[in-house]
Amino acid sequence: MGQLVAIVSQKGGVGKTATAVNLGACLSAIKRRVLLIGMDPQGGLERSFGLDSSKDRPGLFEVLSEQASPADVVYRCHERLPRLDLIPINVASVAEEARLVEILANNAGRLRRVAERIRPAYDFILVDCPSRLDTPTQAALAVADSYLVPVQCEYSSMATVGNVLRAALEVRKNANPKLGIFGFLLTMADKRARFTIKVIREVRQYLKTHAFRTIIPRDPRVAEVPNRQQPVVAFDMESPGSKAYISLAREILGRSAPGQEQWT
Ligand SMILES: Nc1ncnc2c1ncn2[C@@H]1O[C@H](COP(=O)(O)OP(=O)(O)O)[C@@H](O)[C@H]1O
Ligand SMILES: [Mg+2]
Repeated sequence: MGQLVAIVSQKGGVGKTATAVNLGACLSAIKRRVLLIGMDPQGGLERSFGLDSSKDRPGLFEVLSEQASPADVVYRCHERLPRLDLIPINVASVAEEARLVEILANNAGRLRRVAERIRPAYDFILVDCPSRLDTPTQAALAVADSYLVPVQCEYSSMATVGNVLRAALEVRKNANPKLGIFGFLLTMADKRARFTIKVIREVRQYLKTHAFRTIIPRDPRVAEVPNRQQPVVAFDMESPGSKAYISLAREILGRSAPGQEQWT
Protein backbone atom coordinates (compact mmCIF):
# COMPACT_ATOMS: atom_id res chain seq x y z
CA MET A 1 0.00 0.00 0.00
CA GLY A 2 1.48 3.34 -1.07
CA GLN A 3 2.77 5.85 1.45
CA LEU A 4 1.21 9.21 0.72
CA VAL A 5 3.63 12.05 1.44
CA ALA A 6 2.63 15.72 1.16
CA ILE A 7 5.54 18.01 0.25
CA VAL A 8 4.78 21.26 2.04
CA SER A 9 6.18 24.64 3.02
CA GLN A 10 4.87 28.11 3.57
CA LYS A 11 7.67 29.63 1.58
CA GLY A 12 7.97 29.55 -2.21
CA GLY A 13 11.13 28.64 -4.08
CA VAL A 14 12.46 26.24 -1.45
CA GLY A 15 12.47 23.15 -3.68
CA LYS A 16 9.07 21.49 -3.16
CA THR A 17 8.45 20.89 -6.84
CA ALA A 18 12.12 20.05 -7.49
CA THR A 19 11.96 17.47 -4.70
CA ALA A 20 8.72 15.92 -5.97
CA VAL A 21 10.18 15.58 -9.48
CA ASN A 22 13.72 14.48 -8.59
CA LEU A 23 13.06 12.35 -5.51
CA GLY A 24 10.15 10.72 -7.34
CA ALA A 25 12.41 9.94 -10.31
CA CYS A 26 15.14 8.49 -8.06
CA LEU A 27 12.72 6.30 -6.10
CA SER A 28 11.30 5.02 -9.38
CA ALA A 29 14.83 4.38 -10.70
CA ILE A 30 15.36 2.10 -7.68
CA LYS A 31 12.30 0.16 -8.78
CA ARG A 32 9.64 1.69 -6.57
CA ARG A 33 6.30 2.56 -8.12
CA VAL A 34 5.82 6.30 -7.70
CA LEU A 35 2.91 8.63 -8.38
CA LEU A 36 3.35 12.42 -8.31
CA ILE A 37 0.23 14.51 -7.72
CA GLY A 38 0.09 18.22 -8.49
CA MET A 39 -1.75 20.18 -5.80
CA ASP A 40 -0.34 23.61 -6.71
CA PRO A 41 -2.72 25.50 -9.04
CA GLN A 42 0.34 27.11 -10.66
CA GLY A 43 1.07 23.75 -12.26
CA GLY A 44 4.86 23.72 -11.77
CA LEU A 45 4.88 19.95 -11.39
CA GLU A 46 3.27 19.17 -14.73
CA ARG A 47 5.35 21.83 -16.50
CA SER A 48 8.48 20.08 -15.20
CA PHE A 49 7.47 17.21 -17.49
CA GLY A 50 6.40 19.38 -20.41
CA LEU A 51 2.67 19.13 -19.75
CA ASP A 52 0.52 22.25 -19.73
CA SER A 53 -2.90 22.68 -18.18
CA SER A 54 -5.05 21.49 -21.02
CA LYS A 55 -8.73 21.00 -21.22
CA ASP A 56 -8.23 18.29 -23.88
CA ARG A 57 -6.64 16.14 -21.24
CA PRO A 58 -8.26 15.74 -17.80
CA GLY A 59 -6.41 16.09 -14.48
CA LEU A 60 -7.05 16.29 -10.74
CA PHE A 61 -9.39 19.26 -11.24
CA GLU A 62 -11.68 17.16 -13.44
CA VAL A 63 -11.61 14.26 -10.95
CA LEU A 64 -12.46 16.50 -7.99
CA SER A 65 -15.24 18.20 -9.96
CA GLU A 66 -16.55 14.71 -10.85
CA GLN A 67 -16.00 14.93 -14.60
CA ALA A 68 -13.36 12.17 -14.76
CA SER A 69 -12.28 9.15 -12.75
CA PRO A 70 -8.80 8.77 -11.19
CA ALA A 71 -7.82 6.13 -13.75
CA ASP A 72 -8.37 8.66 -16.59
CA VAL A 73 -5.85 11.20 -15.28
CA VAL A 74 -2.69 9.20 -14.63
CA TYR A 75 0.09 9.97 -17.14
CA ARG A 76 3.51 8.43 -17.70
CA CYS A 77 6.26 11.00 -16.95
CA HIS A 78 9.29 9.81 -18.86
CA GLU A 79 10.02 7.06 -21.34
CA ARG A 80 13.05 5.82 -19.37
CA LEU A 81 11.24 5.90 -16.01
CA PRO A 82 8.41 3.41 -16.45
CA ARG A 83 7.49 3.39 -12.76
CA LEU A 84 6.95 7.15 -12.51
CA ASP A 85 3.37 8.41 -13.00
CA LEU A 86 1.81 11.85 -12.70
CA ILE A 87 -1.60 13.32 -12.00
CA PRO A 88 -1.50 16.98 -13.14
CA ILE A 89 -3.66 19.48 -11.26
CA ASN A 90 -4.87 20.93 -14.56
CA VAL A 91 -6.19 24.25 -13.30
CA ALA A 92 -6.32 26.67 -16.24
CA SER A 93 -7.96 29.82 -14.83
CA VAL A 94 -8.55 31.83 -11.69
CA ALA A 95 -12.18 30.67 -11.70
CA GLU A 96 -11.09 27.03 -11.78
CA GLU A 97 -8.67 27.65 -8.94
CA ALA A 98 -11.48 29.16 -6.85
CA ARG A 99 -13.71 26.18 -7.67
CA LEU A 100 -10.94 23.73 -6.74
CA VAL A 101 -10.40 25.43 -3.38
CA GLU A 102 -14.15 25.39 -2.73
CA ILE A 103 -14.35 21.66 -3.47
CA LEU A 104 -11.34 20.89 -1.28
CA ALA A 105 -12.80 22.96 1.58
CA ASN A 106 -16.33 21.59 1.42
CA ASN A 107 -15.99 18.07 0.01
CA ALA A 108 -12.97 16.67 1.80
CA GLY A 109 -14.19 13.14 1.09
CA ARG A 110 -13.53 13.48 -2.65
CA LEU A 111 -9.75 13.77 -2.33
CA ARG A 112 -9.79 10.99 0.24
CA ARG A 113 -11.64 8.69 -2.19
CA VAL A 114 -9.14 9.49 -4.97
CA ALA A 115 -6.26 8.69 -2.60
CA GLU A 116 -7.80 5.39 -1.53
CA ARG A 117 -8.42 4.35 -5.16
CA ILE A 118 -4.84 4.96 -6.30
CA ARG A 119 -2.91 3.91 -3.19
CA PRO A 120 -2.70 0.16 -3.89
CA ALA A 121 -0.91 0.67 -7.23
CA TYR A 122 2.08 2.58 -5.79
CA ASP A 123 4.84 2.42 -3.19
CA PHE A 124 5.10 6.21 -2.85
CA ILE A 125 2.66 8.99 -3.70
CA LEU A 126 4.25 12.45 -3.50
CA VAL A 127 1.93 15.46 -3.44
CA ASP A 128 3.45 18.76 -4.59
CA CYS A 129 1.65 21.45 -2.56
CA PRO A 130 1.49 25.21 -3.19
CA SER A 131 3.67 27.61 -1.19
CA ARG A 132 0.94 28.35 1.34
CA LEU A 133 -0.55 26.53 4.32
CA ASP A 134 -4.21 27.15 3.49
CA THR A 135 -6.87 24.94 1.90
CA PRO A 136 -5.00 22.88 -0.76
CA THR A 137 -2.11 22.10 1.62
CA GLN A 138 -4.49 21.34 4.48
CA ALA A 139 -6.49 19.03 2.20
CA ALA A 140 -3.31 17.18 1.21
CA LEU A 141 -2.23 16.87 4.85
CA ALA A 142 -5.67 15.56 5.76
CA VAL A 143 -5.23 12.52 3.47
CA ALA A 144 -1.46 12.06 3.84
CA ASP A 145 0.41 9.53 5.93
CA SER A 146 3.18 12.05 6.49
CA TYR A 147 4.73 15.27 5.25
CA LEU A 148 8.12 16.30 3.90
CA VAL A 149 9.31 19.88 4.35
CA PRO A 150 12.11 21.28 2.16
CA VAL A 151 14.05 23.88 4.14
CA GLN A 152 16.18 26.19 2.09
CA CYS A 153 19.58 26.87 3.65
CA GLU A 154 19.02 30.53 4.45
CA TYR A 155 18.37 32.70 7.48
CA SER A 156 14.60 33.02 7.39
CA SER A 157 13.98 29.27 7.16
CA MET A 158 13.49 28.32 10.80
CA ALA A 159 10.59 30.74 11.29
CA THR A 160 8.55 29.10 8.54
CA VAL A 161 9.38 25.61 9.85
CA GLY A 162 7.54 26.49 13.07
CA ASN A 163 4.49 27.54 11.05
CA VAL A 164 4.44 24.24 9.14
CA LEU A 165 4.69 22.24 12.37
CA ARG A 166 1.77 24.20 13.84
CA ALA A 167 -0.36 23.78 10.69
CA ALA A 168 0.32 20.03 10.68
CA LEU A 169 -0.55 19.76 14.36
CA GLU A 170 -3.86 21.47 13.65
CA VAL A 171 -4.67 19.01 10.83
CA ARG A 172 -3.68 16.13 13.09
CA LYS A 173 -6.05 17.34 15.79
CA ASN A 174 -8.99 18.04 13.49
CA ALA A 175 -8.81 15.70 10.53
CA ASN A 176 -5.97 13.18 10.43
CA PRO A 177 -4.68 11.82 13.76
CA LYS A 178 -2.23 9.46 12.03
CA LEU A 179 -0.36 12.23 10.18
CA GLY A 180 3.37 11.82 10.79
CA ILE A 181 6.59 13.61 9.84
CA PHE A 182 8.35 12.10 6.82
CA GLY A 183 11.29 14.43 7.22
CA PHE A 184 12.80 17.89 6.88
CA LEU A 185 15.10 18.24 3.89
CA LEU A 186 17.80 20.88 3.69
CA THR A 187 17.90 22.21 0.14
CA MET A 188 20.03 24.54 -1.98
CA ALA A 189 22.99 24.26 0.36
CA ASP A 190 25.93 26.35 -0.76
CA LYS A 191 29.28 25.45 0.76
CA ARG A 192 30.57 28.95 0.19
CA ALA A 193 27.74 30.65 2.08
CA ARG A 194 28.56 31.23 5.73
CA PHE A 195 25.01 30.82 6.92
CA THR A 196 24.53 27.43 5.23
CA ILE A 197 26.52 25.74 8.00
CA LYS A 198 24.60 27.70 10.62
CA VAL A 199 21.20 26.69 9.21
CA ILE A 200 22.28 23.03 8.97
CA ARG A 201 23.38 23.11 12.60
CA GLU A 202 20.17 24.77 13.77
CA VAL A 203 17.88 22.46 11.81
CA ARG A 204 19.63 19.37 13.15
CA GLN A 205 19.60 20.68 16.69
CA TYR A 206 15.94 21.60 16.59
CA LEU A 207 14.49 18.80 14.43
CA LYS A 208 16.93 16.06 15.47
CA THR A 209 16.20 12.76 13.70
CA HIS A 210 13.37 14.35 11.71
CA ALA A 211 16.00 16.07 9.54
CA PHE A 212 17.27 13.88 6.69
CA ARG A 213 21.03 13.23 6.77
CA THR A 214 21.12 13.91 3.03
CA ILE A 215 21.41 17.56 2.07
CA ILE A 216 20.53 18.82 -1.41
CA PRO A 217 23.21 21.21 -2.74
CA ARG A 218 22.49 24.19 -4.93
CA ASP A 219 23.17 22.81 -8.40
CA PRO A 220 22.53 24.61 -11.70
CA ARG A 221 21.63 21.24 -13.25
CA VAL A 222 18.64 20.95 -10.88
CA ALA A 223 17.57 24.44 -11.94
CA GLU A 224 17.56 23.23 -15.57
CA VAL A 225 14.83 20.66 -14.88
CA PRO A 226 11.84 22.86 -15.84
CA ASN A 227 13.50 23.78 -19.16
CA ARG A 228 14.65 20.30 -20.01
CA GLN A 229 11.29 18.92 -18.90
CA GLN A 230 12.83 15.87 -17.28
CA PRO A 231 14.28 14.93 -13.87
CA VAL A 232 17.98 15.70 -13.36
CA VAL A 233 18.89 11.99 -13.14
CA ALA A 234 17.55 11.58 -16.68
CA PHE A 235 20.07 14.02 -18.20
CA ASP A 236 23.01 14.20 -15.76
CA MET A 237 23.42 11.27 -13.38
CA GLU A 238 26.78 12.56 -12.17
CA SER A 239 25.72 16.07 -11.16
CA PRO A 240 25.80 16.88 -7.43
CA GLY A 241 22.01 17.35 -7.46
CA SER A 242 21.44 13.90 -9.00
CA LYS A 243 23.76 12.25 -6.50
CA ALA A 244 22.04 13.99 -3.60
CA TYR A 245 18.53 12.98 -4.70
CA ILE A 246 19.72 9.38 -5.25
CA SER A 247 21.22 9.44 -1.76
CA LEU A 248 17.95 10.79 -0.36
CA ALA A 249 15.98 8.01 -2.06
CA ARG A 250 18.36 5.44 -0.56
CA GLU A 251 18.14 7.06 2.86
CA ILE A 252 14.35 6.84 2.68
CA LEU A 253 14.41 3.19 1.61
CA GLY A 254 16.95 2.24 4.26
CA ARG A 255 15.51 4.25 7.09
CA SER A 256 16.57 1.72 9.69
CA ALA A 257 20.21 2.24 8.66
CA PRO A 258 21.67 5.74 9.11
CA GLY A 259 21.50 7.87 5.97
CA GLN A 260 24.68 8.70 4.13
CA GLU A 261 26.26 11.91 5.35
CA GLN A 262 26.58 14.30 2.44
CA TRP A 263 27.99 17.30 4.19
CA THR A 264 30.83 17.79 6.60
N1 LIG B 1 18.99 22.12 -5.59
C1 LIG B 1 18.73 23.14 -6.41
N2 LIG B 1 19.74 23.82 -6.99
C2 LIG B 1 19.51 24.86 -7.83
N3 LIG B 1 18.28 25.29 -8.16
C3 LIG B 1 17.22 24.66 -7.61
C4 LIG B 1 17.38 23.56 -6.71
N4 LIG B 1 16.15 23.13 -6.33
C5 LIG B 1 15.26 23.93 -6.97
N5 LIG B 1 15.89 24.84 -7.73
C6 LIG B 1 15.29 25.91 -8.56
O1 LIG B 1 14.79 26.89 -7.65
C7 LIG B 1 13.52 27.36 -8.06
C8 LIG B 1 12.49 27.05 -6.99
O2 LIG B 1 12.36 25.63 -6.84
P1 LIG B 1 10.95 24.93 -6.76
O3 LIG B 1 11.16 23.47 -6.61
O4 LIG B 1 10.08 25.37 -7.88
O5 LIG B 1 10.40 25.55 -5.39
P2 LIG B 1 8.92 25.49 -4.75
O6 LIG B 1 8.16 24.40 -5.43
O7 LIG B 1 9.16 25.24 -3.29
O8 LIG B 1 8.32 26.86 -4.96
C9 LIG B 1 13.23 26.69 -9.38
O9 LIG B 1 13.62 27.54 -10.42
C10 LIG B 1 14.09 25.43 -9.34
O10 LIG B 1 14.44 25.01 -10.64
MG1 LIG C 1 6.37 24.46 -6.49
